[in-house]
Amino acid sequence: MTDTIKEQQVIEKHNESADLMKMIFSSNQQSGSMEFFSGNLRTISCFDYQILKKATKNFHVDNLLGSGGFGPVYQGKLADGKMVAVKQLSLNKSQQGEKEFLVEVTTITSIQHKNLVRLLGCCIDGPQRILVYEYMKNRSLDLFIHGNSDQFLDWRTRFQIILGIARGLQYLHEDSHQRIVHRDIKASNILLDDKFQPKIGDFGLARFFPEDQAYLSTQFAGTLGYTAPEYAIRGELSEKADIYSFGVLLLEIICCRKNTEHTLPSEMQYLPEYAWKVYENARILDIVDPRLQQHGFVEKDVMQAIHVAFLCLQPHAHLRPPMSEIVALLTFKIEMVTTPMRPAFLDRRPRKDEEKDCSRALSQTFTSPICDH
Ligand SMILES: Nc1ncnc2c1ncn2[C@@H]1O[C@H](COP(=O)(O)OP(=O)(O)OP(=O)(O)O)[C@@H](O)[C@H]1O
Ligand SMILES: [Mg+2]
Repeated sequence: MTDTIKEQQVIEKHNESADLMKMIFSSNQQSGSMEFFSGNLRTISCFDYQILKKATKNFHVDNLLGSGGFGPVYQGKLADGKMVAVKQLSLNKSQQGEKEFLVEVTTITSIQHKNLVRLLGCCIDGPQRILVYEYMKNRSLDLFIHGNSDQFLDWRTRFQIILGIARGLQYLHEDSHQRIVHRDIKASNILLDDKFQPKIGDFGLARFFPEDQAYLSTQFAGTLGYTAPEYAIRGELSEKADIYSFGVLLLEIICCRKNTEHTLPSEMQYLPEYAWKVYENARILDIVDPRLQQHGFVEKDVMQAIHVAFLCLQPHAHLRPPMSEIVALLTFKIEMVTTPMRPAFLDRRPRKDEEKDCSRALSQTFTSPICDH
């Protein structure tokens, strides 16, 4: 099939959305995508399914980067050599029509910041909905702090990652034209480029899954340790839920461990709880990753970062500082004056075999998420 025929087919496929998307460019021969201008003059690219199939070697398992709550993600190489990450949204969850899907893609494409992963475009093929992102060479933060990676991240790199995440979140919450609550801030959603600059991934994804609660309940177990109590129990969602998750992530980066680790002695299993105990005993630097202790770190910066984490983990959402303040605190632009309250944590953790039923168990078992003793 010639390129012109292929292009024609893609154009025909999108005729339905012609009222919304006015196509004014011919295809980008290099990448195999077509560019559209949306109503407010922002470009989005629509990739031909065959091109993505080729780029990912027919969605081969060897190219599978991972599989989250929205569907599998594959590494791909376009004809021009550009690397991409191809996310196939799960069909049973994303029931969105073509037009609605394109509206959301346009919105997400328009949200750009150096600490947010760039959405390059999408693909619609029958019921398939695919998102194409820039490929991040060092994949995601979980591989370094939860995985078996031998690569050691020094304090400078970790601080760069912490600050970058904070700036990305500040942009989403306060500076972008759309106010966006991420909902799923966690280590696997922090992607790292070749220089270990962090970029937040998966923001705006909830837009493709109109039934928010369905997404929450299927993903709940894996993300529980990051979830703010008011969101976990009462479904109250605001920027403050992201700020809570950021606090958990901050501790994970400093300590180089998962927030919940059932293999550890019981008092150490839940990181915020353990960190608070150590903090109360004035031994807070004991929780720092031993490899970081050996290598050396800037004590003042680490203390400040831990203090910020505790501010983010406070039980009442309104006490948690906004991201702009967090950035200012981390960079010592403003003085730390607040003493954090004891973090909110759920006082019973699910065992592995209970995790699937976790949201049900929580709502049945707890009247309050907060231990206030
Ligand atoms: N743009 C990208 N560049 C490189 N690797 C990526 C990219 N996007 C995702 N990945 C990799 O693919 C894996 C799976 O991502 P995915 O978002 O599907 O799952 P998740 O983050 O674990 O869960 P969730 O669905 O809740 O976000 C990630 O852990 C990451 O390592
Ligand atoms: Mg993800």
